[in-house]
Amino acid sequence: MSLSAQVESIKTEALAAFHAAADLPALEQTKGAFLGADGRFTVLLKQLGSLPKEEKPAAGKLINAAKTGLEAALTARREELELKAALPKEPTDWTLPGRRRAVGRLHPLTQVTDDIVRAFRKLGFVVADGPEIEDEYHCFDALNTPADHPARDSQDTFYVGRTPNSELRTPNSLLRTHTSSVQIRVMKSQPPPVRIIVPGRVYRRDNADATHNPTFHQIEGLYVDKHVTVGDLKGTVEAVFKDVLGSDVKLRFRPHYFSYTEPSLEIDFTNALVKKLGKDWLEIAGCGMVHPQVFENVGYDPEVWTGWAFGFGIERIAMLRYGITDIRLFYENDARFLRQF
Ligand code: DAH
Repeated sequence: MSLSAQVESIKTEALAAFHAAADLPALEQTKGAFLGADGRFTVLLKQLGSLPKEEKPAAGKLINAAKTGLEAALTARREELELKAALPKEPTDWTLPGRRRAVGRLHPLTQVTDDIVRAFRKLGFVVADGPEIEDEYHCFDALNTPADHPARDSQDTFYVGRTPNSELRTPNSLLRTHTSSVQIRVMKSQPPPVRIIVPGRVYRRDNADATHNPTFHQIEGLYVDKHVTVGDLKGTVEAVFKDVLGSDVKLRFRPHYFSYTEPSLEIDFTNALVKKLGKDWLEIAGCGMVHPQVFENVGYDPEVWTGWAFGFGIERIAMLRYGITDIRLFYENDARFLRQF
């Protein structure tokens, strides 16, 4: 047989053998049998030396072309077998249910806050914001709360040191005890009328128990315009509570004292849930007509402008809404609790 016929025949055999190899080890073995040191193709290559000189170039070309072809076929088959090896042994059952990705949800306090904000937005209020690290001026002084007022007692408050560069009258900074400080910031930054709510985190030096926590959340409201009355305050608060907690809600306004409102009131709340807790009323908010001194402090003319303000705790409302009896559950981030909302 001529060399070229031999090359052709071994090549055909090798291609068939590569194709027949059922897995990667079998393929490697086949490769050895044809292209290895003693492989059939290698042996053939060695015969090249014994050919007459004038036949060598043509034969060399032929053998090289065959070798390139074999190597390409080998690579192609190896890729096929690798893919086969990577596929699962068992066939896939496409009808099995998929693996669900755990989807997060909003914290119950966020949900309640969003609902309250939505209820106020319907009435034309906008959300305002202020810093959690406040200074005594915005937290107390400007709210007509003098230095010897019990609310300023360091026992009730987290002081975080002096702010040396402050241009403020009282440079002590503290974690805000209420969102009322934002009333001052907003009124100082814009002329009346004002219609804002301020959801936010506040801090008190309370020990944690079922109904207290050193951090909690409030929503502040402030409405300033001409001829604003207590009737507007009652109507607004009632509309919002009914929107958020249901139409069986009843509110009661009791006289109280806050240094930044005159008159001042506390709001008590009741509904079926409160009754179920064995109580007639639950205290839920403080409010009142903005004190003329506060208007003076922010540069509003108290002879022209009137307004009301309120502040209530978001946790209280969330606890009422969901029947939660321990405030600490909100902060533990136990997924078994959070998943229920
Ligand atoms: N800041 C008061 C508190 O933390 C709540 C409050 C009372 C806010 C009366 C007001 C208000 O705006 O007018 O207990």
